[in-house]
Amino acid sequence: MTDLREVRARTVAGDDSERQHAMPPGHRPGLRHLVEILLEDLDAAHAHDPAARTRLEVALAYPGVHALWAHRLSHRLWHAGLRLPARLLSQLTRLLTGIEIHPGAVIGRRLFIDHGMGVVIGQTAVIGDDCLLFHGSTLGGRSMTRGKRHPTLGDRVMVGAGAKVLGPITLGDDAQVGANAVVVKDVPAGAVAVGVPAQVRFPHTPPGQRERHEDPALLIEYMI
Ligand SMILES: CC(C)(COP(=O)(O)OP(=O)(O)OC[C@H]1O[C@@H](n2cnc3c(N)ncnc32)[C@H](O)[C@@H]1OP(=O)(O)O)[C@@H](O)C(=O)NCCC(=O)NCCS
Repeated sequence: MTDLREVRARTVAGDDSERQHAMPPGHRPGLRHLVEILLEDLDAAHAHDPAARTRLEVALAYPGVHALWAHRLSHRLWHAGLRLPARLLSQLTRLLTGIEIHPGAVIGRRLFIDHGMGVVIGQTAVIGDDCLLFHGSTLGGRSMTRGKRHPTLGDRVMVGAGAKVLGPITLGDDAQVGANAVVVKDVPAGAVAVGVPAQVRFPHTPPGQRERHEDPALLIEYMI
């Protein structure tokens, strides 16, 4: 995570030139590593969605995974200077999945976009590891100015369905954004933001102790 934290720090500081050249962590070249990342993406879908049964099913039927994989390619094209092909791939993916991710956005490992339709992730957004975005969520800007104008998410952040997270704000690790919230200010680590404009609450149960529902039968079934 150190690399991504550096990228985040630079983007929060508005260092756009650095950001243009910053690759997300774990994006070392190499087929083996690429396969590792793709399998992680599949497993992230299974971890977050009890309805996911097999890797094959996730690979074929989850638009959030397709959009993420397309982004991993368009992001490389973007940083290789192939800006137009990167944008075209991003727009083709939007057409096919309903998910728009700007090629410049920096996305960490194991992001899961559930359902997907209507998700928008802006150019200067930064997303940590193990995050979860639901359909209709937006990581957008509040102004048309250049430079850092989109949110930065820590690790394990959840953004509920229809929520809008706007501006160069920071959501700390384990933060949760309620469905349909409009968040325009920083959210501390572990906090929950709900409402319009979002109010911050601190849950009684610490993030690490939040209940996770796993059906053992589904785990056994989950294999290729
Ligand atoms: C915000 C959220 C994470 C809070 O979950 P939680 O920690 O279990 O908290 P609770 O459900 O106990 O709610 C805590 C308080 O926030 C309120 N609240 C919860 N979600 C809210 C929302 N989206 N908008 C406004 N208020 C909300 C509750 O009414 C409760 O208020 P109270 O303390 O006055 O009674 C969850 O409600 C949520 O919105 N998750 C998004 C899930 C989603 O998008 N699913 C889509 C599936 S297809």
